[in-house]
Amino acid sequence: MTASRAAVDRAAELRAQIDRHDYRYYVLDDPAIPDAEYDRLFRELQALETEYPELQMPGSPTQRVGGKALDAFVPVRHRVAMLSIRTETDTGPGGARAFDAQIRRELGFGDQAASVEYACELKFDGLAISLRYENGVLAQAATRGDGETGEEVTQNIRTIKSVPLRLQGVPPAVLEVRGEVYMSRLDFERYNARQRAAQLPTLVNPRNGAAGGIRQLDPTVAAKRLLSFFAYGLGETQGWETPVTHAGVLDALAVFGLPVNQERTVAQGADGLIAFHRAIAAKRAALPFDIDGVVYKVNRLDWQRELGFRTRQPRWAVAHKFPAQEELTVVEAIEVQVGRTGAVTPVARLKPVFVGGVTVTNATLHNADEVARKDVRVGDTIRVRRAGDVIPEVIGVVLERRPAATSPFVMPENCPVCGSRVARLVGEAVARCMGGWYCRAQRKEAIRHFASRRALDIEGLGDQLVAQLVEHDLVRNPADLFSLDAAVLADLERMGSRSATKVVEALKRGKQTTLARFLYALGIREVGEATALALAKHFGSLEALIAADEERLRHIPDIGPVVAAAVRAFFQEPHNQDLIARLRAAGVQWPEMVGKSLTGEQSLAGKAFVLTGTLESLSRDEATERLRALGAKVAGSVSKKTDYLVAGRDAGSKLDKALELGVAVLDEGGLLALLAS
Ligand code: IVH
Repeated sequence: MTASRAAVDRAAELRAQIDRHDYRYYVLDDPAIPDAEYDRLFRELQALETEYPELQMPGSPTQRVGGKALDAFVPVRHRVAMLSIRTETDTGPGGARAFDAQIRRELGFGDQAASVEYACELKFDGLAISLRYENGVLAQAATRGDGETGEEVTQNIRTIKSVPLRLQGVPPAVLEVRGEVYMSRLDFERYNARQRAAQLPTLVNPRNGAAGGIRQLDPTVAAKRLLSFFAYGLGETQGWETPVTHAGVLDALAVFGLPVNQERTVAQGADGLIAFHRAIAAKRAALPFDIDGVVYKVNRLDWQRELGFRTRQPRWAVAHKFPAQEELTVVEAIEVQVGRTGAVTPVARLKPVFVGGVTVTNATLHNADEVARKDVRVGDTIRVRRAGDVIPEVIGVVLERRPAATSPFVMPENCPVCGSRVARLVGEAVARCMGGWYCRAQRKEAIRHFASRRALDIEGLGDQLVAQLVEHDLVRNPADLFSLDAAVLADLERMGSRSATKVVEALKRGKQTTLARFLYALGIREVGEATALALAKHFGSLEALIAADEERLRHIPDIGPVVAAAVRAFFQEPHNQDLIARLRAAGVQWPEMVGKSLTGEQSLAGKAFVLTGTLESLSRDEATERLRALGAKVAGSVSKKTDYLVAGRDAGSKLDKALELGVAVLDEGGLLALLAS
């Protein structure tokens, strides 16, 4: 069946709309419609083209991925040679000055005050490509090859969404655009994450990703690389009144809908070049793609022609590089570091190497999986990368340079700081030292946790104070806190006698706690607030919990084998037993609930409570914990199902509601009596 007039028109309309949205999304980075709407337009066009195959055409957005895998690439002769540019090796301002001086000499500027005008742009780090548009439609794409002959890669280039399949406006009969195919950092990371998840090989860097992607014979494979493109120059043109400057050419290419990077400028003389180099160096790390320098081009095209070429390189352009962000060096040792939360991180000690503008001697290896994946060994030559202010990273090993008799790295079983066991908890990539407060590396964090609001709630014992106490060795474990006196505290920085006294009082108050809070405060691995409460509820007393073996722990609701093991391990450590004894000796105490939960008998089982107003002798959290320990449910709002409303001082609307519904109301005395019964 031939397509009706309406179908032809609709297909044209859809193609135009999709082209425009692709342009907004991939070139301007400014999508105009939601993805779902775009998908709808796309599917409608696909359906029309399936129904009427004569509507399929090379310029259609549905034709980006569609071709069959090739057996080999077809050679393409470039009608205008594809040259490369000279690289200035001096990465400082001298590099820019040398180029400007040479241009002035060659153009015969002599001692004239006038400066030469340059088009400055980024030096993208990818693969050079030539795109040939005939009457506005992408007809052919080719790699540079040897400059004279490249390979046809049109199928792969079509998969790049920022490459328009049709140009906008009134394009010339022939427009050959030159530019760089690259892979953005985000697309590189995403691609590698997917590959890793599927246990497939990952890409070494975005440049290899782009170059390798374009060299795929199967366009569906190329499409998965999610490549991008920036135009930076011209090849052959026919039927076009070419602008008179390079900057004018780039502006015109942008008007045709081609992606031209925004970070370009027109600069005057060497000073202008230096300023551009500096400005881009400062922005480099924040760019969404890798660059390895900037490019300066004499702006006037007539002057470019006058300057001409010297052995395959134009005299009118130069690449001015930045210091390399990647270098090779040797791993001298692999050590492990312990972080404040106990994370044990392997770190490679490197033979000092200058990279990314600084001398690097260490690089993180993140975790044991990462070391195993990269198989970094002592003695290996590795590629190290430092981009911007980012921590130096080991990219990979140069296996060809591996010396004989190396062995894979193994994570130590004991913490290098305190000797405690190092274990990897379920669902975590990092291994952790189980030492907690006992480990010097983790002490500040453990003490801070012990004093935190949901633990012993010691007001005034903030990060700064804890840091000083630990650094001056005044506190080595949580029990030491209770022997601090106001005079010692008052001597510390940013403390005075008033705040010191307040802290001492807060410490005194903190001694009155609940078993759940106490267990949480100990910082036992895997024991968060909810688990602490479950343990307190179940055992009722610390002695009962300490006496429980792993088997018994494991059979408590909400306690799994991992928690059971962590709890057992904690109480088995002599230094933890010692800590608990010292804490109790210091007066830390909580209401025992022995006799109720121990036997499993819960006097308030199933009863629904709501708390409101302010209680005097215990906090709402404590009242909640103690009610729950007896099997009660504590809810937030009053309903017909509520058994008791506990009303403290200044109770408001909940009390009214309870009275209205005829719910029993207890005052604080009533609550305490119930808890004690
Ligand atoms: S102009 C005749 N401009 O760097 C001049 N090249 O040899 C042709 N490159 O492989 C090149 N960014 O692919 C030019 N803004 C830019 C560039 C650029 C990256 C690549 C180009 C070539 C290499 C230089």
